[in-house]
Order: sequence, then C-alpha cells, then structure tokens
Amino acid sequence: MDETVEPVSNLDGSLTLPPDKSIAHRSAMFAALHEGESVIHNYSPAADPQSTLKCLEGLGVSIERDGYSVSVNGLSRDGFNTPEQDLDCGNSGTTMRLLSGIVGGAGVKARLIGDESLSRRTMKRIIDPLKKMGIQIEAREDNYAPLTIQRNGPVKPMDFDLPIPSAQLKSCVLLAGLFGENPTRVIETIPSRDHTERLLELPVENVDGKRIISSSRAQAIPKQSYTIPGDFSAASFWLVAGSIFPNAKILMQNVGINPTRTAAMHILQKMGATIELTRQHQEGREPVTDLEVKGSELKPVNITPDQVPNCIDEIPILAVAMAFANGTSRIEGAGELRHKETDRIMAVSKMLNAAGVSFTEYEDGLEITGRPDFIPEPARYESFHDHRIAMSAGILSLKADGESRISNAECAAISYPMFWDHLKIMTN
Ligand code: S3P
Repeated sequence: MDETVEPVSNLDGSLTLPPDKSIAHRSAMFAALHEGESVIHNYSPAADPQSTLKCLEGLGVSIERDGYSVSVNGLSRDGFNTPEQDLDCGNSGTTMRLLSGIVGGAGVKARLIGDESLSRRTMKRIIDPLKKMGIQIEAREDNYAPLTIQRNGPVKPMDFDLPIPSAQLKSCVLLAGLFGENPTRVIETIPSRDHTERLLELPVENVDGKRIISSSRAQAIPKQSYTIPGDFSAASFWLVAGSIFPNAKILMQNVGINPTRTAAMHILQKMGATIELTRQHQEGREPVTDLEVKGSELKPVNITPDQVPNCIDEIPILAVAMAFANGTSRIEGAGELRHKETDRIMAVSKMLNAAGVSFTEYEDGLEITGRPDFIPEPARYESFHDHRIAMSAGILSLKADGESRISNAECAAISYPMFWDHLKIMTN
C-alpha cells in the first residue's frame, strides 16, 4: 500500500515512541531462559518482536499478553519443547540469529523459517561458529534460511574473535555458550550494541582495548521484569525531522539512550543539531531520557567505520539529514548495510536520486552534498519493503514542494506500527 505525504512548513509536538525492538526481543528470550515468571512492561507491538513471542510459544513457553505488558513463564535452559511446527521469524534477523543460539544450545530440534527478505540474508556468520560449538545446522545453499538446527553431543565452549561488529552474531554465540559447562568467550574489537550482556548480566573484561564477554551454564539467568524504554532508532527519525525544519520543536519521552546505540545523536549534534536531554534515569538495566529537538542549520559530517556499528540502523535517516547540510558529508565503512532487510546503500541511493540530491554511491558508503534550502522532488519513493527506508523517505517527503508517495509503506510496522499516524499528528 502506498502512503501519501504532503509537504509541511513546520513540526511541533510530542510523541510516545514504540518500545525498543532490540531490547524487546532479548527481554522475551531471556525471560524464557529464566526459570519462573517475568513481567515485561512496554513490550513492542511491532511485527518483529511479535515474531519472537510466537517462536517462543512454539518452543512451549507460555506467554500472556495484556496490552503493552507481557508475562512470560520461563522454562529455564532445559525446559523447551521440540516444536511441532516451523518457528517463523518473519522479517526479523534478530529473532532468527539469536534464537538459533538458544535452540542449538538447548539441543531442541527445530526448523527456523523467515519471509522472502529474511530468507535472502546471509546466515553463514552464525552457522560457522555454531557448528564449531557442536551444533548441526542444515541451511539452504549452506547459507540461507530455512535453518534446521539440532545437537547430538554437548555444547563445545569456544573463544570467538568477532569477525564483524555484529550484535546479532555476538549474542547468538553467547546464547549458545550459556549451555556449555565451560565458558565461551566472545572477543569484540569494535563495540556493538550491548543489550545482551547487560540484560543477562554477563561478565565483561576490558583487555587492550577489546571487550571479552563470557557465558556458560554456571551463570544464572536473571528475571526480566522491567519497563522497556522507547526505541532510540525510532527517535532518530524525529531527531532528523526536527533538525531540518527551522522552527521545529519535538519532544519524546522515555527514550533509551544506551551508549552503544546513540552514535546518530552525537553525529547530529556534531552537525549542529539542537538536542536537549532531560530527566535522565535508569529503567531496569538501561539508561533512559526525554529528548527534545529543535530546528538548526546543519553542517556536513563524516561517519567513520568505528562509528558505524553504533548507528547502523540510523544511517538511512542520517543520509536524509546530510541532504540538508551545508556541504559534502561522507559515510564510510558501512558495507554491512548491504546485508540488511534490503541492500540499504542501494535503497538510500535510489531515494536520494528520486529526490534530486547530489550524491555518489560507494561499495561501503555514500558521499552526499547537501544544501540547507534543498527542496526534494515530489516523487514516488520505493521502500523496497524495508521499514527504515520507508520511514526515511516519509521524513524526506515533508520537505518536498508537492505530494510524494512511498511504496509498500505498511512495512513501517516491522518496528514502528504507528509511524504514519505520528507523521500526521506532527504535521497537523
Ligand atoms: C540488532 C543488531 C543490528 C541491527 C539490527 C538489530 C540487534 O544488526 O542492525 O536492527 O538487536 O542485535 P547486526 O548485528 O547484524 O549489525
């Protein structure tokens, strides 16, 4: 379904964002691994975290839903049932990659499937280490879902140097490691989001600038009863929207600001964005704040490879900010974007091209020349069924000089079901 977006002259208002998607997946999975009940407040209604709940139910976990609260009756590490049906991860890479570690570690035989987009994404990065840990995985062309997972012998602990800074890969190996008698150690050179180690309270050592995270059967799995904060990745669409309208003012309450997630905010601040943090506090094991953004003149910026893992999901919307900056910005070392829900470097290039932005596409990034007075073409933007591309094009369209359309815009519901309603609220 196409969404129509009319241009506006200003944005002013306050928003309650969807609950954090990364934390939601983990809270439910870890609650299932804990023995006994966890009550998770503000669990995300978005499609991806809902896929995680359904997969856990397929493994015999009983889950009660009450609005935005879910109560998970954890079965402990050894209580999962062999599922009678495939575990359908939908569009969710996090569900498939993290659950593979749990299912493989638990020694439950299961088949994990995904939608068309997920079935095209590489799983080799998790298949290789899980095999080394003694977990058998059959995959289509040795690489893609469906994945059939089982284990005959015990989990073999291992030391794993992360070959790519991916939190999904790190988490998958650590979760399988929870079933080993001796510690599995994951060595991380460029830090990626750390929700798994925080929420599981895993031991982390810092050695020679590297992080070494360990997991084993000896570690107790903590109860996961807390309130999930608003999703920083969802906030980033409004941080950019608020920055590109001179008189804008947008307030977002209770937004997660885990430092491994907020590089986009620091990049925007470096560009000159006015972002105020108030009421900073802790919710469960995560830092939270209210964020207010006001319109600013943006300067160009370079996003360097070491920053990329901490703003990987925000790069499409940062590209929109760059189109309104006064000069040329660069994004480097972001080749991982080509392995997301769609090839996001290609998808952002198509969006910039349709809008009339001057840019160059590289294998691992983009160079974008912006102008504060830039007026995007009213266009039909292709979402490629990717939620973050659809929402980025939605924000870009607000600055056009005519009506734009976004194709298959309903895909926003993967992470942000009320995005198009929020767009209307903010612009009326
Ligand atoms: C996620 C990790 C990132 C991110 C994804 C969510 C997570 O993926 O892009 O949206 O919750 O662990 P990678 O680990 O593949 O970088």
